[in-house]
Amino acid sequence: MASLRVDLGDRSYPILIGDGASKEGIALLPRLLKGKKIAVVTNPVVVKYFASKTLRFLRKAGFKPTVITLPDGERYKTLQHIARIYDGLIAGHFDRADAILALGGGVTGDMAGFAAATYMRGIDFVQFPTTLLAQVDSSVGGKTGIDYPGGKNIVGAFYQPRLVVCDLSALKTLPDREYRCGMAEVIKYGIIRDARFFAWLEENVKEVAARKTGALETIVRKSCACKAAVVAADEREADIRAILNFGHTFAHGIETALDYKRIKHGEAVAIGMVMASRLSYSLGLIPQKTAERVKRLIAAYGLPTTLPKYLSPGEVIEGMVHDKKIISGAWRFVVYDRIGNAFVKGGFARAEIAAAMDG
Ligand code: NAD
Ligand code: GLY
Repeated sequence: MASLRVDLGDRSYPILIGDGASKEGIALLPRLLKGKKIAVVTNPVVVKYFASKTLRFLRKAGFKPTVITLPDGERYKTLQHIARIYDGLIAGHFDRADAILALGGGVTGDMAGFAAATYMRGIDFVQFPTTLLAQVDSSVGGKTGIDYPGGKNIVGAFYQPRLVVCDLSALKTLPDREYRCGMAEVIKYGIIRDARFFAWLEENVKEVAARKTGALETIVRKSCACKAAVVAADEREADIRAILNFGHTFAHGIETALDYKRIKHGEAVAIGMVMASRLSYSLGLIPQKTAERVKRLIAAYGLPTTLPKYLSPGEVIEGMVHDKKIISGAWRFVVYDRIGNAFVKGGFARAEIAAAMDG
């Protein structure tokens, strides 16, 4: 079992990582939480695999769990469905001492976290992520929120969990496509902050693709360590945290242009990282062979590296204009000058961005 810490003063919290970590994580809860009531927020897919075990461990630890099941999918990440969480908490007479446990992927975690941030002006919550993307990214760092007409994740709050538990056994049931999408974020950490991890990913494609427990432990631990360090340095994205959005501005442009259909987020991030590499090359920051090395690794994990035929660079740029990360209309992108060292750069012309998308 690996244990990391997100250092945020009195809001610091541990991240437990391991095969079967749920049991150990739940055993920690009586020390971390004030009350005995806990609402397990989940969805019908995840409930089928993990609810009975989670509820059994919670009861054994002295909790009175209730389950709030939301429909599965990004299209339900809405205010209307947040209201269902509030309704469940009110029906169960939850008060300020009680807590929420998010059991599921990033959609569940973002919604459960937002409900926890706002119910009675904030109650405790813990993250039990069950997708690779949620284990390596969304469950750590305290970004919570929902989609709203006009923007994805446009309504939300920074609100840190009290504990994150990455039970690697959960990843065994994840569909291949979801697993690959999580790998895009894993590769991102290598590019932005950890050259040795990047090289390890190059050398261990087979083990990672086969979801060997040791390989899973390495990718989740290395990714969480990177995210925890960046979040501890800049919790509210005033500065360095923006590097976690490497490839994401292009990705959001792709997703917006396609109205969040056909291409999944991790696939859009994969294409976006290739584009951000090309941008780094066109600025003279990296040699072509580095951009090619990055593209090769992304492809090795079965992720796309080019725009699909049915989508043009112009359409992607239009999609990007609506990205909330484009501050005051300025084009800012995360670029890198060597694998392991990314930073934000502004002042791009539209033509430079379009050129990075060609190829
Ligand atoms: P998701 O939550 O929709 O999960 C993907 C699918 O996998 C769902 O159908 C889910 O039911 C299923 N699933 C979950 N666990 C499973 C398991 N163990 N076995 C089988 N199936 C399982 O999607 P996601 O990719 O986990 O998360 C995407 C969301 O995360 C987006 O809404 C995105 O905005 C958000 N996000 C948030 C942050 C953040 O910092 N808060 C970061 C990145 C992404
Ligand atoms: N996923 C980007 C962030 O947490 O900042």
